[in-house]
Amino acid sequence: MHIHETIAGLRAALKSAGRVVLVPTMGNLHEGHIALMTQARDHGDSVVATIFVNRLQFRPGEDFEKYPRTFQADCEKLTAAGVDHLFAPDEREMYPRPQGYHVVPPAEQDNALEGEFRPGHFQGVATVVMKLFQIAQPDVALFGKKDYQQLMVIRNMVTDLNLPIEIIGGETVRAPDGLALSSRNGYLSAQERMEAPRLARTITKVVEAIRTGNPDFIGLERQAMAELAATGWVPDYVAIRKKLDLQLPSAHESGLVVLAAARLGSTRLIDNLEV
Ligand code: PAJ
Repeated sequence: MHIHETIAGLRAALKSAGRVVLVPTMGNLHEGHIALMTQARDHGDSVVATIFVNRLQFRPGEDFEKYPRTFQADCEKLTAAGVDHLFAPDEREMYPRPQGYHVVPPAEQDNALEGEFRPGHFQGVATVVMKLFQIAQPDVALFGKKDYQQLMVIRNMVTDLNLPIEIIGGETVRAPDGLALSSRNGYLSAQERMEAPRLARTITKVVEAIRTGNPDFIGLERQAMAELAATGWVPDYVAIRKKLDLQLPSAHESGLVVLAAARLGSTRLIDNLEV
């Protein structure tokens, strides 16, 4: 695997790389990331992973400083997965001066769900992903459904700004007990780790209730939040939304997804399941 720390170096290497498939990450790679790398293989000639912990998408007081950085182990995993190029810039390479121009998602995407609890987060994500797209100029890019709203924001950015990039969503990879893999799972204590799969179990129950025809979406959301709260979680939301735009569905509507975010101790976990 070729490792590039500079934009110029990456661009030079990709000149003769054929169809480029990009998989952006913030590192501390797990099987969820690696599944995207493996899928990427099927979509082009050269797989390019990126590792960059993007300060712009963290709010003051969030975990930017303590976000796990495990570069050596990540490189070994990427090499084993057959990734061709790794772009791993430092902050000065990505932000040589304070970022002046930003990609601002429309309010209904930016302020809902994750956006309500992490204002500015998707502007930071969209801006860095746009920069990575300009830097690597991929034909295809892969993102996980684990971050469902992020995938939707990026799909809409690509459509609205006419970027010639195909966006592919990868299924969420889970631990055997159902917990969605996440770099933030490493923050959990042993006891919290045992409790953590409850988030997936809770949204699974909501999905099953919808599938059996329960039309009381608000009731289901409230009940799920109450169950989490009763077992020591601090839920931000459990929300039944339309898959396409994450807006509110009407009763009996199909094409739904159940999304949830909740804190367990000091760790904030998110998950979702398509109905
Ligand atoms: P990061 O959290 O490192 O995730 C990188 C990619 O891996 C994202 O597309 C994410 O959805 C996907 N992913 C994470 N956990 C997964 C799982 N359990 N199963 C499948 N895919 C999973 O998301 C980001 O980084 C950043 O916001 C980024 C897009 C890189 C912009 O900075």
